[in-house]
Amino acid sequence: MTDLDPKTSGDIHPNLTRPERSEDCSLDRLTVALEEELEGVPVAEVDGARVATLLHQYAAGERTWERYAMEGQGSYSRNLVWRSRDFELLLLCWKEGQASSIHDHAAQNCWMAVLDGALEEEHFSHRDGTLRRGRVKSYEAGGVAFIRDDIALHQIRPAAGGGGVSLHLYARPIDECLAFCPESGDPTKIHVGYTSVRGAACAQADPVAIRRAWTG
Ligand SMILES: [Fe+2]
Repeated sequence: MTDLDPKTSGDIHPNLTRPERSEDCSLDRLTVALEEELEGVPVAEVDGARVATLLHQYAAGERTWERYAMEGQGSYSRNLVWRSRDFELLLLCWKEGQASSIHDHAAQNCWMAVLDGALEEEHFSHRDGTLRRGRVKSYEAGGVAFIRDDIALHQIRPAAGGGGVSLHLYARPIDECLAFCPESGDPTKIHVGYTSVRGAACAQADPVAIRRAWTG
């Protein structure tokens, strides 16, 4: 992983024009394949099994994600690989001891593929203002998880004693979601940004500005 340069990590990405993708990069080819599956397709008609297969095939053998693996400062990082109208693809880097909030997914479909290390996903339900723990499942490199609000809330963290890197596909993109307090169960709306965009550090870059610039 690459440490963020503190001199640039607070800057907004200097170039908001839509980047070119490379046929030579397997991660860029994955974004093109995902575009064919997701762009303009009603959510109810998305072939989720096909999407999971594409993610698994990439996660099981490719390392072209390394150029985007930038660590955050203090919490896990969210590195934008690609964003279109109907989906976004993010690389998340996790250090030992870090964890996501317990969160929902703003009524969107979400896939997670583990690229390196091992991650745990814990499910939660939220009824009558109370959080209840559900199952915990571990995923190693190549493993793919899927979640949606009608399945559960969840929390992601590296398996004990290690870190990890994961690829997250949100269809459609998520700019805000609900995070739940583990003690009280109270939800809070949170806005999510990016640690980097296409390998350029830009701590908490505004997703809306990027969407406008990339998709018109
Ligand atoms: Fe999530």
